[in-house]
Amino acid sequence: MQVLGIDVGGSGIKGAIVDVSSGQLCSEPVSLITPQPATPPAVIETVGELVRSFKWTGLVGCGFPAVIQNGLAKTAANIAASWINVDVKRCLESQTGCSSAVLNDADAAGLAEMSFGAGHGFNGTVLVLTLGTGIGSALFYQGQLFPNLELGFLPLNGSPAEQYTSAAVRTKQKLSWLGWSKRLNQFLTHVDRLFSPELIIIGGGVSFNHEKFFPYLDLQAQLLPAQFKNQAGIVGAACFAANQIAL
Ligand code: BGC
Repeated sequence: MQVLGIDVGGSGIKGAIVDVSSGQLCSEPVSLITPQPATPPAVIETVGELVRSFKWTGLVGCGFPAVIQNGLAKTAANIAASWINVDVKRCLESQTGCSSAVLNDADAAGLAEMSFGAGHGFNGTVLVLTLGTGIGSALFYQGQLFPNLELGFLPLNGSPAEQYTSAAVRTKQKLSWLGWSKRLNQFLTHVDRLFSPELIIIGGGVSFNHEKFFPYLDLQAQLLPAQFKNQAGIVGAACFAANQIAL
């Protein structure tokens, strides 16, 4: 079965057609810039444009950078505040005409990594972190997801961790890999203490450069880069939608 997976991020909106039985992409990914300000009408219009670029009429799975409950956005950290309580699923369906399922973007990335990627076969506690504009987090135990964990909001040096050590902060503040890694290590050590994951998987665009910062990180947990790198969200969103429909 093929599903169009979409990953709405703070800076880009990406999509590709995914074979949900293997997690493989069946099309080239398409990426559009997230409109700023990222208001509901502007983002939904861009998602519509993305779906039309594939001439897609089938099922859509969408990862969204917010707490998602019953298709509704409940937080808005790196998108316009007017998203709060918006029914993302309904907006998507009326914009595209496609049946859709929506979940948190990091949960989507985590599902992809656990099903087909770096976490495949791990039965213990696994934490998947996506480092991008913000910090996304997805926690698994025995393969089961605890949804909407917002570890990017753990306070670190007086501000939410994601404002101190996301990948975007490294670029914006022109931090060296070592300088940024020290911040990241502080965050990961804290998270390690709280959840004792056996494995931490690091995703997001920065995972392409894992050799540049993994050597500086000193943790109890095993550390792996996301196998799907920054495409995990697309793959996981598509698989999530397929499972929702199958239920
Ligand atoms: C949001 C999370 C999201 C993460 C990564 C955070 O700002 O609150 O829900 O998973 O960014 O996009």
